[in-house]
Amino acid sequence: MLSYRHAFHAGNCADVFKHVLLVQLIRALRRKDNPFCVLDTHAGAGRYDLDSPPARKNREFVGGIDRLWHRTELSPELADYVAQVRASNPDDRLRHYPGSPRIARALLRPRDRLILTELHPAEHAALKAEFAGDRQVLVHHADGYAALKALLPPLERRGLVLMDPAYELKDEFDRLLAAVQVIHRRWATGIIAVWYPILDRAPSLRWQRTLQAMEIPALLCAELGLYPYDGPPGLHGCGMILINPPWKLDETLGRLLPELLRWLRVGERGQTRLEWLTPAP
Ligand SMILES: C[S@@+](CC[C@H](N)C(=O)[O-])C[C@H]1O[C@@H](n2cnc3c(N)ncnc32)[C@H](O)[C@@H]1O
Repeated sequence: MLSYRHAFHAGNCADVFKHVLLVQLIRALRRKDNPFCVLDTHAGAGRYDLDSPPARKNREFVGGIDRLWHRTELSPELADYVAQVRASNPDDRLRHYPGSPRIARALLRPRDRLILTELHPAEHAALKAEFAGDRQVLVHHADGYAALKALLPPLERRGLVLMDPAYELKDEFDRLLAAVQVIHRRWATGIIAVWYPILDRAPSLRWQRTLQAMEIPALLCAELGLYPYDGPPGLHGCGMILINPPWKLDETLGRLLPELLRWLRVGERGQTRLEWLTPAP
């Protein structure tokens, strides 16, 4: 039973973190001429109306994209991300928030491709409509985990798998471990980016230790914590596991994570973490 709807969370601090990294990953892929493919396994609806009742319910975007929207003193990387959001809001009012599929699509060159899988029927229908007639985008109504074997490796042999599940299921971390193994076995050079929430600290750390033990090389962990991890229950922060991250992304993130914390912070005790869990070969 799928009940998660991303419209309630669109543009929040977790989206900002995730999409800033997504822009950097695709920018890096664009540095070489050869075409690449992006597979977004948990794609969502593709674009969200921030005036809609779900988005207005908790107005989560106020603690996220809204904090950056009118800033002129952003680093070039954060300005690049905000420009992607601006492309969905030509009249300068923050009304629509582009999800990962829209952001990825905006950064494709004519020979690059985007493959999207989404399981929720209504989200899939919205996604399908969003990209109707777009020959560079393939939209599947499918389980993103189950589809991996059929979709990978992509013809281009270069690219990225973004996994951004809703963590509704108790065994989501286990599913992700299995998925990372499948992806890496089929496509050892592909970039893998897995977003995760930091609610209770222990499960995400346990998961990282298991990933480490799998001895997949080049495993980078980036985290943004906005609330103390020992504070009251809730979303304390989030992170991204990056496998085969582009060259020098660690240096870029070393600058961007503290900058993101400065813009998005809600108290004195925020924190960032950037750590190679296994070294690059
Ligand atoms: C966090 S949202 C995705 C947000 C999107 N990646 C973005 O950044 O704009 C997670 C999505 O995964 C979908 N979903 C849940 N389980 C899935 C599965 N097994 N396969 C594909 N999609 C799934 C949910 O319906 C939801 O739309």
